[in-house]
Amino acid sequence: MCGIVGYIGNRNACPFLTEGLKRLEYRGYDSAGIAFLSDNELEIIKDKGKISELESNNSLSNLNFSVGIGHTRWATHGEPNKINAHPHFNHNKSICIVHNGIIENYEEIKIKLEKDGFRFISETDSEVLVHLIDYFLSRGYSLFQAVRYSLNEVNGTYGLAVISKKEPDKIIVARKGSPLIIGIGKNENFIASDLQALISYTNKVVYLADDEIAEIRNDSFFTRTISDESIKKEIEDVDLELEQISKGGYAHFMLKEIMEQPNSIQNSIRGRLLFEEGTSKLGGIENYVDRILNSRRIIITACGSSWHVGLIAEYMLEQFAGIPVEVDYASEFRYRNPIISNDDTVIFISQSGETADSLAALKEAKRKGALIVGICNVVGSSIARESMTGVYIHAGPEIGVASTKAFSSQVMIFALLSLLLARRLNMSKQDGSNIILEINSISEKIKNILDNNEIIKNIAEKFKDVKNFLYLGRGYNFPVALEGALKMKEISYIHAEGYPAAEMKHGPIALIDENMPIVVLAPKDSVYEKVVSNIKELKARKGIIIGILNEQDNELSNIVDYVIRVPETIRMLMPILNIIPLQLLAYYIAVSKGLNVDQPRNLAKSVTVE
Ligand code: G6P
Repeated sequence: MCGIVGYIGNRNACPFLTEGLKRLEYRGYDSAGIAFLSDNELEIIKDKGKISELESNNSLSNLNFSVGIGHTRWATHGEPNKINAHPHFNHNKSICIVHNGIIENYEEIKIKLEKDGFRFISETDSEVLVHLIDYFLSRGYSLFQAVRYSLNEVNGTYGLAVISKKEPDKIIVARKGSPLIIGIGKNENFIASDLQALISYTNKVVYLADDEIAEIRNDSFFTRTISDESIKKEIEDVDLELEQISKGGYAHFMLKEIMEQPNSIQNSIRGRLLFEEGTSKLGGIENYVDRILNSRRIIITACGSSWHVGLIAEYMLEQFAGIPVEVDYASEFRYRNPIISNDDTVIFISQSGETADSLAALKEAKRKGALIVGICNVVGSSIARESMTGVYIHAGPEIGVASTKAFSSQVMIFALLSLLLARRLNMSKQDGSNIILEINSISEKIKNILDNNEIIKNIAEKFKDVKNFLYLGRGYNFPVALEGALKMKEISYIHAEGYPAAEMKHGPIALIDENMPIVVLAPKDSVYEKVVSNIKELKARKGIIIGILNEQDNELSNIVDYVIRVPETIRMLMPILNIIPLQLLAYYIAVSKGLNVDQPRNLAKSVTVE
């Protein structure tokens, strides 16, 4: 979480810092701050709230400086207030830092530093870093070495940037478990925790890896490892356009990303369908298909919406590849000593590729010898780099905190993978071709649902003041119910629960009365009749049913209270269609409640702390 930016060069750094921080606010927006060198002194401007408030309250546009760092915070240690906001100073204001991550042994270090006379001002774990660096500086080390020695003392994670008034011609940055990118310019260099902040300034970047530290000047940089080995970094070209990260006329990124799904799905399948052969092609994993097929089992590990995709993938892979699949929360997997061997495949699903728990789980599974497959959206992200093989979903940048287009594209990648594995086993070419035709028509079907969004908007208006929602589905649609409920909770702050439709009788049915709206996913599939019975049970208890029904369904449309139609498709692709109305329902409810859907309270897009 948290976003970091920095600039060193010849022009005014302020526009880059403020613009960059705004682009990183999806990582956290509890407080914001900048630090800069002005007349040989370091200054900090910071406060609770968003960067736009900081900007207008402090007339940042009047500032002019050419070395600076900035931070947007998602609070971990210490409440979101001005004192806890970054950057943080040392006692005589000669150095300051911005930090993303968590210093786990900060209490221990703080006690030692306090004994040496250092005084702490904030409640943050980050502040120990600035005093620790100060401690090493007072022993005569250069800024670079003082930062390096300090990082050797800490446990935890960091994306770190440091500036000093005594060495004003450099920014020191370091990374462990939290991304840090150097943007290379002409007689100027940039730093950022994500590409988004850099793209209107440069497309040449250097990705720091874990345990690396860099000294950056106007016209040069050098890198070493924290343990002082020399390393040579490649300058890479990035392919990201400004247009891809702007709202493009939509009121919110979330709406734009929902509406983009016909395209993002096309981008996920582009070049990956082999019509002639009735199968798919996933270049990244081509050389690993045998190993996957020979796996004793597949374990899928992820967090949040990506974990819901894992549950859908479990149905797909067991049905099509006949390999036992387990799905685990990354945060649970990493701490329960999972029994894994080199005949297991562990698949990590992550939009950002930076989620701390997923990354730690990946490292654990790798240590135990499993084949590691990464399914990521962000190219060059940590999970993508650490995986042994993988597939990019190519959904394009997702900025809205609540995942939408990444979810549908992740599901699509598992459909392609299942098809590929099934065709290597016993699926006929004809069956494969039928699946391909369905995959190829899914964009049009999504478009059809999006075109009818007025119906969903009207339903949203009716339910905006309710306190609870229940979401029910069976089979492939059970994880969709979980995801629909998550969308509702995340952005409209309405309590919502997803449940397997039949399991509802073992508890949640007690909650049903005339005030409880229940979204039921009831496509015409093999469990349709069972869902009809579940709906009747709910109606008998006066529940209000919003049915997500297929276009030709005239039976349930007479029983449920509100109908949202989705086109028919094959079972494994249903989640891609059925999630669309649930995304829109959550979106329209949040908007009619006047909430900030792109930046819901307490959440962050990229959870880089555990
Ligand atoms: C956060 C986001 C979710 C996302 C989850 C996992 O909670 O708000 O939208 O699903 O992290 O993120 P990942 O990037 O690993 O998919």
